[in-house]
Amino acid sequence: MSSDFLGTGSYVPKRVLTNADLERMVETSDAWIVERTGIRERRLVESGQACSDLAIEAAQRALVAAKVTATDIDLILLATCTGDTPLPSTACLLQHRLGATRAAACDISAACCGFVYALSIADAYIKNGMRYVLVIGSEVMSAITDWSDRNTCVLFGDGAGAVVLGQGPQHSGILSTHLHANGRLSEMIYVPGGGSKEPASKDVLENKRCFVKMKGNETFKIAVKSMEEAVKEAVEANGVAIQDIDVFIPHQANMRILKAVNQRLGLAQEKVMINLDRFGNTSAASIPLALDEAVLSQRIQKGNLVLLAAFGAGLTWASALIRW
Ligand code: UT7
Repeated sequence: MSSDFLGTGSYVPKRVLTNADLERMVETSDAWIVERTGIRERRLVESGQACSDLAIEAAQRALVAAKVTATDIDLILLATCTGDTPLPSTACLLQHRLGATRAAACDISAACCGFVYALSIADAYIKNGMRYVLVIGSEVMSAITDWSDRNTCVLFGDGAGAVVLGQGPQHSGILSTHLHANGRLSEMIYVPGGGSKEPASKDVLENKRCFVKMKGNETFKIAVKSMEEAVKEAVEANGVAIQDIDVFIPHQANMRILKAVNQRLGLAQEKVMINLDRFGNTSAASIPLALDEAVLSQRIQKGNLVLLAAFGAGLTWASALIRW
């Protein structure tokens, strides 16, 4: 028995924020952003649009593609670090709105690795006999972005992607997942305030403690090494070669990170799925968003070897190898 991908879906909000728009907000330039990150534009929610609003669109599309009804779903795992509210989980809000009355539901918090972490948990449940798991990555990064900090505000975007997993034949679907964490580096990327350590207050707001802080340059170097390690671990564990990978879907953080990883791996650039030029870094939504695009554009074909690899706050890093 294996965990197979029955359907995928995604959604991005309509509002586009271009690099030219950012030039009017902070001291930056389109040339700097494109050269240093590869990002040209990103999507942002309208006021009042929350994580669950993006998640439901992506989830409904994935259910239609999978030909599975909401009441068939046994478990909903929503990867996010920008849920609608601290309590309850956004997955529960989604469960209600979808009418997935039989489903258990919880959020998974592993930042940019959240979707791969959630896939790994879903895989374990399905291999244990569960029938249908809905896995979503949905983020409203704009809600935790300091729009006056040019070091971070040029990077992030909002969006959601979803997959429905069900039981499939041996040697198809998820072949392996590998998950890692190193909490010693927790302050590389973090939001210091708004949690139990520094509860929401006037002070937290005034000192911008409720927004993402990142040591970009140091994170960059670790990201390249960790992504390379995650990929090599996946191929070695399955006895396949890097060259056997048909489609590589990395977390979309920075074009230069992706190019450096590719170079180290010796993987042909055309095998790499890239959409960060249009959506920026959407954290846990980044991989399922790119995955859905690859499926819809028929870039992924049945039988293809598809590799997912992510890196993010925690620090965390992870990979999943899939026979589509
Ligand atoms: O998804 C989670 C994982 N996150 C990541 O993987 C992010 C990893 N890091 C990065 O993507 C890159 O480090 C950044 C894109 C964030 C920054 O690029 P960098 O090449 O590492 O630049 P830097 O931080 O070393 O800064 C170089 C210069 C600095 O100026 P000085 O000190 O040399 O005068 C910055 O102040 O670029 C300046 N700078 C900017 N200039 C124009 C930083 N941000 C901007 C900006 N526009 N938006």
